[in-house]
Amino acid sequence: MERKVYLDNASTTYVSSEVLNEMIPCFNAIYGNAGSLHKFGRDAVAIVDKARDRVKEGVNAQKSTEIYFTSGGTEANNMAILGVAHAYANKGKHIITSQIEHHSILNACKELEREGYEVTYLPVDKTGLVSLPDLLHAIRKDTTLISIMSVNNEVGTIQNIKSIAKIAHDYDIIFHTDAVQAVGQIKIDVQDMEIDLLSLSGHKIHGPKGVGALYVRNGIKIEPITFGGNQERGKRSGTENVPGIAGLGKAVENATKNYLITNKKLKTIRDYFLDKLAENVEYYQINGHLQQKSNEILNISFYGIEGESLLMLLDLAGICVSTGSACTSKVAEPSHVLKAMKIPDDIIQSSVRFSFGTNISKADIDYVIAELSKAVAKLRAISPIQAGRI
Ligand SMILES: Cc1ncc(COP(=O)(O)O)c(C=O)c1O
Repeated sequence: MERKVYLDNASTTYVSSEVLNEMIPCFNAIYGNAGSLHKFGRDAVAIVDKARDRVKEGVNAQKSTEIYFTSGGTEANNMAILGVAHAYANKGKHIITSQIEHHSILNACKELEREGYEVTYLPVDKTGLVSLPDLLHAIRKDTTLISIMSVNNEVGTIQNIKSIAKIAHDYDIIFHTDAVQAVGQIKIDVQDMEIDLLSLSGHKIHGPKGVGALYVRNGIKIEPITFGGNQERGKRSGTENVPGIAGLGKAVENATKNYLITNKKLKTIRDYFLDKLAENVEYYQINGHLQQKSNEILNISFYGIEGESLLMLLDLAGICVSTGSACTSKVAEPSHVLKAMKIPDDIIQSSVRFSFGTNISKADIDYVIAELSKAVAKLRAISPIQAGRI
């Protein structure tokens, strides 16, 4: 049988059997609408409530009512950015974010700019970190929101979230973080980290696609961005996706409870990959912070070759990786994250993201390295650029 090695877990993950088991009854036995008053409706409400408690526990919120279910990380991010900006427009119309955010943040900010808001996009250093002096410098009297992602989806760099949140609060500014790539990778504690709003998504943590959540600290106002039946306490209209929510609840519970074990396994496999890579391949660089990073993600530029061509050769060998982030990889533009890290265009074009899962064995990695070194050699043989000269 042809070997398949899936190294694209930062774009999506398989649904775990525990999560699936939690979801299946919601498609048939418990199919009520959570908005109905009868028994079928009440049973659906019980499922949604249980999931809300699980998400609350997972992020250490104070109350379950601080959790709002959404259609994923994108909607949670839109709700946070637009919702806070609109609710606090009387106080000011300036927002701070970073240049390396996911497009669901960047494009929501662009929408605010069209509405007359001003947005500061903070630069990052060559490891992908936002600088705290830069942040302090950007703060204005009319700044209402700072939104900085916890873990970057392309390079895995982990931001200094606690310090950033502290600065925000020193200046009475609301702090949001996109934690879509952080849940299950680092400890999430909204109280300890002083996070006011946090976005998460199901499909990155062995949950279903099309479901996510936004944590909003009690007392923080958000204006809704969808209008309808006033579900989710008026903040997110639309019939609740009960199977998805049930799956999300279980996925968040598992990811947050097991993050230390997950991390240990991912580190072992990632380090094994790096050792084997060093033994077998020459002329490459690892993009992103070398220590302050998620163990799941490795972004590597192989000098002298096109990342896209490497992706295709690996795909032929049954190995799945990505170039850029999954959501934008069909766009031919160079990664905005690597660009913000001041990586030259030709090095950006030669980059590939490997994102590991706990189901990957050392034998899988041996296979990947063998195929990778063959593919790199093949592409370099036809490349006009000499890798060793870069
Ligand atoms: C950092 C980050 N934020 C937000 C999202 C969007 O989440 P979703 O796919 O659930 O809309 C992603 C997905 O790639 C992501 O990596």
